[in-house]
Amino acid sequence: MKPRILSGMRPSGRLHLGHWCGALENWVHLQDDYENYHLVADWHVLTTNYENTADIWTHTIDMVIDWLATGIDPNKNVIFIQSHVKEHAELHLLFSMLVTVPRLERNPTVKEQIRELHLENRVSYGHLGYPVLQAADILIYRANAVPVGEDQVPHVELTREIARRFNQLYGEVFPEPEALVTEFSRLPGLDGTKMSKSKNNAILLSDEPEEIRKKVMMAITDPLKVRRGDPGRPNVCTIFNYHKKFNSREVSEIEKDCQSGVLGCVACKQNLAEKLTQYLEPFRHKRQSLEKDRDYIRQVLEQGNRQARQQAAATMELVRHAMKIGYMMEI
Ligand code: TRP
Repeated sequence: MKPRILSGMRPSGRLHLGHWCGALENWVHLQDDYENYHLVADWHVLTTNYENTADIWTHTIDMVIDWLATGIDPNKNVIFIQSHVKEHAELHLLFSMLVTVPRLERNPTVKEQIRELHLENRVSYGHLGYPVLQAADILIYRANAVPVGEDQVPHVELTREIARRFNQLYGEVFPEPEALVTEFSRLPGLDGTKMSKSKNNAILLSDEPEEIRKKVMMAITDPLKVRRGDPGRPNVCTIFNYHKKFNSREVSEIEKDCQSGVLGCVACKQNLAEKLTQYLEPFRHKRQSLEKDRDYIRQVLEQGNRQARQQAAATMELVRHAMKIGYMMEI
């Protein structure tokens, strides 16, 4: 039997290259060697955006179309929506008893979010606890591995602790899953800061060639390299980072010519824009045809939700029996 993967993303609409490098590419590469579960984490959206729920559904559909367009195969992957498998909420409640509040407050990813959103004194109970919900997402499928970006590793660590604690207290039900992280799992945005659609520093997988070119031309390079001829420092240049990932064939030449000053930033960016356009071309094609086939998307999700529910229900039977709660015992 193949080991099992579970991973997921918040539905944020169309995906960008950061999502691709952070996780999605890994999902595609791993899909033959594992049994794969991928969830749209729509409940997780509420942690930072509970007032505004109007777009969650369209963002879900846009994201699933992107997943399929990159090659996630519905015959090899269970693709489903978190809020459509209510068992996650039950397991979350049970797990929430096994975790202390100070343990949750130490989570570096949650801390960073709180800092970035200036939430210091008004973090909700649900927001602080979302890594516990994530542990339930993972463990309810008894997953062995979790392919995610670097920022999610603390959550997988917590998941392992919860699995261990549960098994100790109630008997062996859960495996301890490991995080699978790749080399480019934190591709920076075009301005060198964290890639995010709202900061307008992201290239979307679905961007047209002209948009790609415009965005790349605006990117920040080595601030000390002002004109062609100035020697550049590839190791501080965002564009060079992208060449490493998307233009590996020319990367050593680019490094040399940037350092010597022969290569100017404009030409270097034009080259990258072209490589990115080629790289994303097949994806854009596939996306266009998926866009027109809404019935197919619905079918994929209905089937995925059904398969996920079945598996989640089976695990919850084990959990309830281990904990001796939530079913009728002998009277
Ligand atoms: N927390 C993840 C994010 O913000 C999404 C997520 C929810 C997830 N449940 C998960 C990721 C389970 C991996 C496994 O993107």
